Amino acid sequence: MALILGIETTCDETGIALVEDGHKIISHHVLSQASDHERFGGVFPELASRLHVPALPLLFNKTLEESGKSAEDIDAIAVAYGPGLVGALLAGLQFAKGLCIGLKKPLIAVNHVEAHLFAAAMNKNPEFPALGVVVSGGHTTLLLIKAIGFYEVLGETIDDAIGESFDKVAIMLGLSYPGGPLIEKIAKTGNPHLYPFKSGKVQERPLSFSFSGLKTAVLQMLKNYPEAHPADVAASFQECVFKDLLSKISMTLQKTGARSLLVGGGVANNKRLQSLLQELPLPVFLPPPELTLDNAAMIAGLGYHNLLHKGPSPLSLEPATRIAF
Ligand code: KG4
Ligand code: ZN
Repeated sequence: MALILGIETTCDETGIALVEDGHKIISHHVLSQASDHERFGGVFPELASRLHVPALPLLFNKTLEESGKSAEDIDAIAVAYGPGLVGALLAGLQFAKGLCIGLKKPLIAVNHVEAHLFAAAMNKNPEFPALGVVVSGGHTTLLLIKAIGFYEVLGETIDDAIGESFDKVAIMLGLSYPGGPLIEKIAKTGNPHLYPFKSGKVQERPLSFSFSGLKTAVLQMLKNYPEAHPADVAASFQECVFKDLLSKISMTLQKTGARSLLVGGGVANNKRLQSLLQELPLPVFLPPPELTLDNAAMIAGLGYHNLLHKGPSPLSLEPATRIAF
Protein backbone atom coordinates (compact mmCIF):
# COMPACT_ATOMS: atom_id res chain seq x y z
CA MET A 1 0.00 0.00 0.00
CA ALA A 2 1.33 3.46 -0.90
CA LEU A 3 0.07 6.78 0.40
CA ILE A 4 0.83 9.60 -2.04
CA LEU A 5 0.53 13.29 -1.26
CA GLY A 6 -0.52 15.31 -4.32
CA ILE A 7 0.21 19.03 -4.84
CA GLU A 8 -1.45 21.20 -7.49
CA THR A 9 -0.54 24.85 -8.16
CA THR A 10 -0.42 25.18 -11.96
CA CYS A 11 -2.82 28.11 -12.21
CA ASP A 12 -5.35 29.65 -9.82
CA GLU A 13 -6.32 26.66 -7.68
CA THR A 14 -4.26 25.38 -4.77
CA GLY A 15 -4.84 21.67 -4.22
CA ILE A 16 -3.57 19.13 -1.70
CA ALA A 17 -4.64 15.49 -1.62
CA LEU A 18 -3.82 12.18 0.00
CA VAL A 19 -4.53 9.21 -2.25
CA GLU A 20 -3.85 5.54 -1.59
CA ASP A 21 -2.59 3.25 -4.35
CA GLY A 22 -3.49 5.69 -7.11
CA HIS A 23 -7.25 5.48 -6.70
CA LYS A 24 -8.52 5.70 -3.11
CA ILE A 25 -8.97 9.35 -2.15
CA ILE A 26 -8.38 9.62 1.60
CA SER A 27 -8.80 13.39 1.79
CA HIS A 28 -8.45 16.28 -0.64
CA HIS A 29 -8.93 20.03 -0.64
CA VAL A 30 -8.95 22.73 -3.29
CA LEU A 31 -8.83 26.46 -2.65
CA SER A 32 -9.86 28.48 -5.69
CA GLN A 33 -8.50 31.99 -6.22
CA ALA A 34 -11.17 32.74 -8.87
CA SER A 35 -12.80 35.54 -6.85
CA ASP A 36 -9.36 37.21 -6.38
CA HIS A 37 -8.80 37.28 -10.15
CA GLU A 38 -12.35 38.25 -11.10
CA ARG A 39 -11.65 41.98 -11.24
CA PHE A 40 -8.84 41.36 -13.77
CA GLY A 41 -11.15 39.41 -16.09
CA GLY A 42 -8.74 36.46 -16.03
CA VAL A 43 -5.84 35.01 -14.03
CA PHE A 44 -3.26 37.61 -12.93
CA PRO A 45 -0.07 35.46 -12.76
CA GLU A 46 1.81 37.41 -10.07
CA LEU A 47 -1.20 37.30 -7.75
CA ALA A 48 -1.69 33.57 -8.43
CA SER A 49 1.90 32.79 -7.33
CA ARG A 50 1.60 34.85 -4.17
CA LEU A 51 -1.73 33.35 -3.10
CA HIS A 52 -0.42 29.76 -3.37
CA VAL A 53 2.25 30.50 -0.74
CA PRO A 54 -0.03 30.88 2.31
CA ALA A 55 -2.62 28.41 0.96
CA LEU A 56 -0.24 25.43 0.64
CA PRO A 57 0.65 24.87 4.34
CA LEU A 58 -2.93 25.65 5.32
CA LEU A 59 -4.39 22.99 3.02
CA PHE A 60 -1.61 20.54 3.86
CA ASN A 61 -2.48 20.68 7.57
CA LYS A 62 -6.21 20.50 6.89
CA THR A 63 -5.88 17.49 4.56
CA LEU A 64 -3.60 15.65 6.96
CA GLU A 65 -5.82 16.35 9.98
CA GLU A 66 -8.93 15.16 8.16
CA SER A 67 -7.24 11.98 6.96
CA GLY A 68 -6.24 10.85 10.44
CA LYS A 69 -2.75 10.15 9.05
CA SER A 70 0.53 11.68 10.10
CA ALA A 71 3.14 13.21 7.79
CA GLU A 72 5.38 10.16 8.40
CA ASP A 73 2.72 7.91 6.81
CA ILE A 74 3.25 9.62 3.44
CA ASP A 75 5.26 7.41 1.07
CA ALA A 76 5.97 9.90 -1.71
CA ILE A 77 5.12 13.45 -2.81
CA ALA A 78 3.66 14.04 -6.27
CA VAL A 79 3.67 17.56 -7.69
CA ALA A 80 2.31 19.08 -10.90
CA TYR A 81 5.50 20.50 -12.45
CA GLY A 82 3.69 21.89 -15.52
CA PRO A 83 2.30 23.01 -17.83
CA GLY A 84 1.21 26.19 -16.11
CA LEU A 85 2.26 29.62 -14.88
CA VAL A 86 5.90 29.59 -13.87
CA GLY A 87 5.53 31.47 -10.57
CA ALA A 88 2.55 29.38 -9.53
CA LEU A 89 4.42 26.16 -10.38
CA LEU A 90 7.46 27.30 -8.38
CA ALA A 91 5.33 27.73 -5.26
CA GLY A 92 4.08 24.12 -5.46
CA LEU A 93 7.46 22.68 -6.44
CA GLN A 94 9.31 24.36 -3.58
CA PHE A 95 6.69 23.24 -1.08
CA ALA A 96 6.92 19.67 -2.42
CA LYS A 97 10.72 19.66 -2.29
CA GLY A 98 10.74 21.03 1.26
CA LEU A 99 8.47 18.18 2.34
CA CYS A 100 10.61 15.61 0.50
CA ILE A 101 13.73 16.82 2.30
CA GLY A 102 12.01 17.13 5.68
CA LEU A 103 10.24 13.77 5.50
CA LYS A 104 12.99 11.97 3.50
CA LYS A 105 10.51 10.81 0.86
CA PRO A 106 10.76 10.65 -2.95
CA LEU A 107 9.49 13.35 -5.29
CA ILE A 108 7.26 12.44 -8.26
CA ALA A 109 6.85 14.74 -11.26
CA VAL A 110 3.33 14.84 -12.75
CA ASN A 111 2.14 16.41 -15.99
CA HIS A 112 -1.00 18.40 -15.14
CA VAL A 113 -2.70 17.79 -18.52
CA GLU A 114 -2.09 14.07 -18.33
CA ALA A 115 -3.55 14.14 -14.82
CA HIS A 116 -6.79 15.70 -16.16
CA LEU A 117 -7.17 12.62 -18.38
CA PHE A 118 -6.20 10.28 -15.55
CA ALA A 119 -9.03 11.81 -13.46
CA ALA A 120 -11.52 10.42 -15.99
CA ALA A 121 -10.08 6.90 -15.63
CA MET A 122 -9.53 6.90 -11.85
CA ASN A 123 -11.48 4.06 -10.18
CA LYS A 124 -12.75 2.89 -13.57
CA ASN A 125 -11.62 0.42 -16.18
CA PRO A 126 -11.66 2.06 -19.61
CA GLU A 127 -10.58 -0.11 -22.52
CA PHE A 128 -7.49 0.93 -24.48
CA PRO A 129 -6.64 2.24 -26.97
CA ALA A 130 -8.76 5.18 -25.89
CA LEU A 131 -9.22 8.65 -27.23
CA GLY A 132 -8.48 11.45 -24.81
CA VAL A 133 -9.77 15.01 -24.87
CA VAL A 134 -8.53 17.68 -22.50
CA VAL A 135 -10.82 20.70 -22.48
CA SER A 136 -9.67 23.20 -19.89
CA GLY A 137 -8.85 26.84 -19.36
CA GLY A 138 -5.32 26.31 -20.61
CA HIS A 139 -5.57 23.33 -22.98
CA THR A 140 -7.47 21.83 -25.86
CA THR A 141 -5.83 18.55 -26.79
CA LEU A 142 -7.11 15.51 -28.65
CA LEU A 143 -4.93 12.45 -28.25
CA LEU A 144 -4.73 8.73 -28.64
CA ILE A 145 -4.03 6.91 -25.38
CA LYS A 146 -2.42 3.54 -26.01
CA ALA A 147 -2.18 3.00 -22.23
CA ILE A 148 -1.75 5.35 -19.26
CA GLY A 149 1.64 6.98 -19.93
CA PHE A 150 1.68 6.30 -23.71
CA TYR A 151 0.16 9.02 -25.86
CA GLU A 152 0.05 10.31 -29.41
CA VAL A 153 -1.21 13.86 -29.87
CA LEU A 154 -3.71 14.08 -32.73
CA GLY A 155 -4.74 17.72 -32.47
CA GLU A 156 -4.22 20.81 -30.34
CA THR A 157 -5.34 24.41 -30.33
CA ILE A 158 -3.11 26.76 -32.27
CA ASP A 159 -4.33 29.82 -30.34
CA ASP A 160 -6.83 30.15 -27.47
CA ALA A 161 -7.74 27.16 -25.33
CA ILE A 162 -11.40 26.16 -25.34
CA GLY A 163 -12.08 27.30 -21.73
CA GLU A 164 -10.15 30.52 -22.40
CA SER A 165 -12.47 31.24 -25.34
CA PHE A 166 -15.49 30.76 -23.04
CA ASP A 167 -13.90 33.12 -20.51
CA LYS A 168 -13.16 35.79 -23.15
CA VAL A 169 -16.60 35.64 -24.76
CA ALA A 170 -18.15 35.83 -21.29
CA ILE A 171 -16.34 39.15 -20.66
CA MET A 172 -17.67 40.47 -24.03
CA LEU A 173 -21.16 39.57 -22.82
CA GLY A 174 -20.66 41.43 -19.54
CA LEU A 175 -20.32 38.26 -17.47
CA SER A 176 -17.57 37.64 -14.92
CA TYR A 177 -14.61 35.23 -14.61
CA PRO A 178 -14.58 32.23 -14.93
CA GLY A 179 -17.08 32.60 -17.76
CA GLY A 180 -17.63 28.97 -18.81
CA PRO A 181 -20.31 28.10 -16.25
CA LEU A 182 -22.02 31.49 -16.80
CA ILE A 183 -22.14 31.02 -20.58
CA GLU A 184 -23.63 27.56 -20.03
CA LYS A 185 -26.25 29.01 -17.69
CA ILE A 186 -27.48 31.80 -19.95
CA ALA A 187 -27.19 29.62 -23.09
CA LYS A 188 -30.01 27.44 -21.71
CA THR A 189 -32.55 30.14 -22.56
CA GLY A 190 -30.96 31.15 -25.89
CA ASN A 191 -31.34 30.00 -29.48
CA PRO A 192 -28.19 28.04 -30.47
CA HIS A 193 -28.98 28.41 -34.17
CA LEU A 194 -29.59 32.16 -34.32
CA TYR A 195 -26.03 33.24 -35.15
CA PRO A 196 -24.19 31.12 -37.71
CA PHE A 197 -20.74 31.28 -36.10
CA LYS A 198 -18.03 29.18 -37.73
CA SER A 199 -15.19 27.36 -36.01
CA GLY A 200 -11.63 27.94 -37.20
CA LYS A 201 -9.98 25.50 -39.60
CA VAL A 202 -6.25 24.85 -39.34
CA GLN A 203 -4.57 24.33 -42.70
CA GLU A 204 -3.35 20.78 -43.26
CA ARG A 205 -4.16 19.89 -39.64
CA PRO A 206 -7.82 18.83 -39.70
CA LEU A 207 -7.73 17.66 -36.06
CA SER A 208 -6.28 20.88 -34.65
CA PHE A 209 -8.35 23.69 -33.18
CA SER A 210 -8.50 27.45 -33.56
CA PHE A 211 -10.85 29.58 -31.48
CA SER A 212 -9.47 33.09 -31.88
CA GLY A 213 -11.32 33.78 -35.17
CA LEU A 214 -14.57 32.71 -33.56
CA LYS A 215 -13.90 35.02 -30.62
CA THR A 216 -13.34 37.94 -33.03
CA ALA A 217 -16.53 37.01 -34.92
CA VAL A 218 -18.51 37.24 -31.67
CA LEU A 219 -16.95 40.63 -30.88
CA GLN A 220 -17.71 41.93 -34.37
CA MET A 221 -21.27 40.65 -34.21
CA LEU A 222 -21.84 42.39 -30.85
CA LYS A 223 -20.51 45.64 -32.36
CA ASN A 224 -22.80 45.36 -35.40
CA TYR A 225 -25.87 44.24 -33.43
CA PRO A 226 -25.68 45.83 -29.97
CA GLU A 227 -29.30 44.83 -29.39
CA ALA A 228 -28.40 41.09 -29.68
CA HIS A 229 -29.65 39.04 -26.76
CA PRO A 230 -26.67 37.66 -24.72
CA ALA A 231 -28.45 34.32 -24.25
CA ASP A 232 -28.68 33.79 -28.03
CA VAL A 233 -25.04 34.81 -28.55
CA ALA A 234 -23.89 32.51 -25.73
CA ALA A 235 -25.95 29.58 -27.02
CA SER A 236 -24.79 30.02 -30.64
CA PHE A 237 -21.14 30.37 -29.55
CA GLN A 238 -21.30 27.33 -27.26
CA GLU A 239 -22.97 25.20 -29.93
CA CYS A 240 -20.37 26.18 -32.51
CA VAL A 241 -17.46 25.27 -30.19
CA PHE A 242 -18.91 21.92 -29.15
CA LYS A 243 -19.95 20.89 -32.68
CA ASP A 244 -16.34 21.57 -33.75
CA LEU A 245 -15.00 19.42 -30.92
CA LEU A 246 -17.46 16.61 -31.59
CA SER A 247 -16.75 16.56 -35.31
CA LYS A 248 -13.02 16.17 -34.63
CA ILE A 249 -13.61 13.40 -32.12
CA SER A 250 -15.88 11.60 -34.62
CA MET A 251 -13.28 11.91 -37.38
CA THR A 252 -10.72 10.01 -35.29
CA LEU A 253 -12.94 7.19 -34.03
CA GLN A 254 -12.65 4.86 -37.02
CA LYS A 255 -9.06 5.68 -37.85
CA THR A 256 -7.77 4.95 -34.35
CA GLY A 257 -10.02 2.04 -33.41
CA ALA A 258 -10.54 3.71 -30.03
CA ARG A 259 -12.58 1.63 -27.58
CA SER A 260 -13.40 4.40 -25.14
CA LEU A 261 -13.18 8.15 -24.70
CA LEU A 262 -11.67 9.89 -21.67
CA VAL A 263 -12.59 13.55 -21.18
CA GLY A 264 -10.94 15.85 -18.65
CA GLY A 265 -10.67 19.55 -17.75
CA GLY A 266 -13.06 22.21 -16.51
CA VAL A 267 -15.15 22.47 -19.70
CA ALA A 268 -16.12 18.80 -19.23
CA ASN A 269 -18.50 20.11 -16.53
CA ASN A 270 -20.71 21.54 -19.27
CA LYS A 271 -24.02 19.63 -19.50
CA ARG A 272 -24.56 20.47 -23.18
CA LEU A 273 -21.13 19.01 -23.97
CA GLN A 274 -21.88 15.96 -21.85
CA SER A 275 -25.13 15.30 -23.70
CA LEU A 276 -23.42 15.62 -27.11
CA LEU A 277 -20.69 13.21 -25.94
CA GLN A 278 -23.30 10.63 -24.94
CA GLU A 279 -24.39 10.42 -28.59
CA LEU A 280 -20.98 9.04 -29.61
CA PRO A 281 -20.84 5.31 -30.37
CA LEU A 282 -18.34 4.40 -27.62
CA PRO A 283 -18.22 4.47 -23.80
CA VAL A 284 -17.42 7.95 -22.50
CA PHE A 285 -15.57 8.42 -19.19
CA LEU A 286 -15.81 11.73 -17.34
CA PRO A 287 -14.29 12.55 -13.95
CA PRO A 288 -16.68 13.04 -11.03
CA PRO A 289 -17.55 16.78 -10.78
CA GLU A 290 -15.05 17.51 -7.97
CA LEU A 291 -12.20 16.07 -10.06
CA THR A 292 -13.10 17.91 -13.27
CA LEU A 293 -11.58 21.26 -12.33
CA ASP A 294 -7.99 21.58 -11.14
CA ASN A 295 -7.36 19.40 -8.08
CA ALA A 296 -4.56 17.47 -6.38
CA ALA A 297 -6.30 14.07 -6.20
CA MET A 298 -5.63 13.56 -9.91
CA ILE A 299 -1.98 14.56 -9.33
CA ALA A 300 -1.55 12.04 -6.49
CA GLY A 301 -3.41 9.36 -8.49
CA LEU A 302 -1.22 9.69 -11.57
CA GLY A 303 1.79 10.22 -9.28
CA TYR A 304 1.39 6.68 -7.92
CA HIS A 305 1.30 5.35 -11.47
CA ASN A 306 4.40 7.37 -12.41
CA LEU A 307 6.30 6.18 -9.35
CA LEU A 308 5.65 2.54 -10.31
CA HIS A 309 6.47 2.93 -13.99
CA LYS A 310 8.97 5.79 -14.23
CA GLY A 311 10.41 6.05 -10.74
CA PRO A 312 11.07 9.16 -8.62
CA SER A 313 12.27 12.51 -9.94
CA PRO A 314 15.40 14.40 -8.86
CA LEU A 315 15.04 17.31 -6.44
CA SER A 316 16.48 19.49 -9.21
CA LEU A 317 13.12 19.19 -11.03
CA GLU A 318 12.25 22.52 -12.65
CA PRO A 319 8.85 23.99 -13.52
CA ALA A 320 7.83 23.52 -17.15
CA THR A 321 5.45 26.08 -18.61
CA ARG A 322 4.92 23.77 -21.61
CA ILE A 323 5.28 20.00 -21.81
CA ALA A 324 5.10 18.04 -25.05
CA PHE A 325 3.38 14.65 -24.81
O1 KG4 B 1 -9.41 22.50 -15.76
P1 KG4 B 1 -9.55 23.89 -15.30
O2 KG4 B 1 -9.83 24.12 -13.84
O3 KG4 B 1 -8.28 24.76 -15.60
C1 KG4 B 1 -7.18 24.54 -16.36
O4 KG4 B 1 -6.41 23.56 -16.13
O5 KG4 B 1 -6.98 25.38 -17.26
O6 KG4 B 1 -10.67 24.58 -16.19
C2 KG4 B 1 -11.10 25.89 -16.03
C3 KG4 B 1 -11.82 26.30 -17.29
C4 KG4 B 1 -12.24 27.76 -17.29
O7 KG4 B 1 -11.89 28.34 -18.53
C5 KG4 B 1 -13.76 27.70 -17.14
O8 KG4 B 1 -14.44 28.79 -17.73
C6 KG4 B 1 -14.08 26.40 -17.83
O9 KG4 B 1 -13.02 25.52 -17.46
N1 KG4 B 1 -15.36 25.83 -17.39
C7 KG4 B 1 -16.43 25.67 -18.19
C8 KG4 B 1 -17.46 25.14 -17.38
N2 KG4 B 1 -16.98 24.98 -16.10
C9 KG4 B 1 -15.67 25.42 -16.14
N3 KG4 B 1 -16.60 25.94 -19.50
C10 KG4 B 1 -17.82 25.67 -20.03
N4 KG4 B 1 -18.86 25.20 -19.32
C11 KG4 B 1 -18.73 24.92 -17.99
N5 KG4 B 1 -19.76 24.44 -17.29
ZN1 ZN C 1 -6.23 22.09 -15.39
